[in-house]
Amino acid sequence: MTMVDKHDTEWWKTGTIYQIYPRSFMDSDGDGIGDLKGIESRLDHLTYLGVDAVWISPFYPSPMKDFGYDVSDYTGIDPVFGNLDDFESLLAAIHARGLKLLLDFVPCHSSDQHPWFQASRSSRDDPKRDWYIWRDPKPDGSPPTNWIAEFGGSAWTLDEATGQYYYHAFLPEQPSINWLNPDARAAMLDVLQTWFDRGVDGFRVDAVENAVVNPEGGDNPPNPNWQGEGGPPRSLLGTHTKYQAETFEIAREMRRLGRTYHPEKVFVGEAYGTIEEVIRFYGDDHDGFHLPFNFLLIGAEWNPLVIASLVDAYEAALPAGAWPNWVLGNHDRARIASASRAGRAQAPVAAMMLLTLRGTPTIYQGEELGMENVEIPPERVVDPWEINLPGQGHGRDPVRTPLAWEEAPHGGFTTGEPWLPVDLRSEVTVSVLRRDPGSILNLHRDLLALRHREPALTLGDYRTVSVDDAVFAYERNYGDSRIGVALNFSDQPRPAVFEGEVLLSTEGDEATDDLRPNEGRVVRLI
Ligand code: GLC
Ligand code: MG
Repeated sequence: MTMVDKHDTEWWKTGTIYQIYPRSFMDSDGDGIGDLKGIESRLDHLTYLGVDAVWISPFYPSPMKDFGYDVSDYTGIDPVFGNLDDFESLLAAIHARGLKLLLDFVPCHSSDQHPWFQASRSSRDDPKRDWYIWRDPKPDGSPPTNWIAEFGGSAWTLDEATGQYYYHAFLPEQPSINWLNPDARAAMLDVLQTWFDRGVDGFRVDAVENAVVNPEGGDNPPNPNWQGEGGPPRSLLGTHTKYQAETFEIAREMRRLGRTYHPEKVFVGEAYGTIEEVIRFYGDDHDGFHLPFNFLLIGAEWNPLVIASLVDAYEAALPAGAWPNWVLGNHDRARIASASRAGRAQAPVAAMMLLTLRGTPTIYQGEELGMENVEIPPERVVDPWEINLPGQGHGRDPVRTPLAWEEAPHGGFTTGEPWLPVDLRSEVTVSVLRRDPGSILNLHRDLLALRHREPALTLGDYRTVSVDDAVFAYERNYGDSRIGVALNFSDQPRPAVFEGEVLLSTEGDEATDDLRPNEGRVVRLI
């Protein structure tokens, strides 16, 4: 019985989250940009897959300088995505299917077009001046510190009219909100409350390690280990700009608010950092985020020894009772099926690992289709990161291309001209993949069905059994139920590791003694 209860009340432990990037999921009105009605029209896909919750990237009013991560009204809907009625209808449809809905909260910055920032910049005496982070220039007129923005350039922009600089962790059009100001903080918490009252089940919290900067902070020191990776922003340490102590207090406040609802609202935190930094977001005694995203595998070398050591390090670092989670991709990072990551042949192994490690998995839309990075012709590049720092591999357009639903013009995504090109290969098209029992789509479906059937795969313990340069093998145990997972990262046959009933193989039903090249297996151990 306890198991059933758990399933009801703690869906975020046993369930799987599916990330929708709304511009690229489904377009209903032919403007080439996905929208809320489009999402609602394709909910069958999620039910077919068997995921439990949906997180939708921002669809709030936005000048779209950072494609919705520059919000000009936190409680509205951008007309490109629809309106509040469309939202209510979508939420009802999602709930009617027994799914949960998480939205995306962008706490660290608004758009420069947000009325709050317009007021803040209007004069030094405006009541909202302190809702953003303002400082005087250095005596020579230059920016107050050496802080570098994530998308390149100084993190300070001069407001000529009032003679001060404002801070922005990302684009100049994304001024950072001052969470140390109690009124700004209250206004941001009100935003959460508005959406909770509308019925959403929780939030993914954007870029939260940047929520607070040291108000007295001087220059950030150089990063002694920097070799060019990550671009200029990584050339400095985040001493005054990231993971400030107060940031964790903000996570606690969000959780406290979420706890005033029944069932409590769920928070997934987005923060890139060391394991130690990221797990601090769990809080003390579970008073922080339910699931601070674990990005250890999102850029890891696709090598079983490396991956197993990251899994072990994460398992060992988790505080008692903290629930783990795993992510292989999102709208910011190279797709897992791309050659630079696991690659096409290994994508099924990656999916099996994501859905059988201990912890809540998040699937980024298109992973279940084996989508790869799509090459974007230079004239179609729209991501500001690529535009500001061209040719350094930061561009995110290749991982944000629309889904192909049918063998139709633009994959049936739109009747118009899509905002980014659609990958029209039939092997990434939903309708084609559905018909093929051995497709990566049906593998995801089978894996998710297995997770729903086998508590060992959701609630069970984790133990690494063996790893070498080809095969990573682990066990998941729950009571008497023991399940082994063996993943062959190589293109050679390898010994099977586990004996028992094969519950699922990435290579289909036919049983073989050895693991086949690129095969992953889930085995019931006796
Ligand atoms: C997060 C988002 C990313 C966005 C950035 C600024 O990292 O995932 O897409 O550009 O925050 O909001
Ligand atoms: Mg549209």
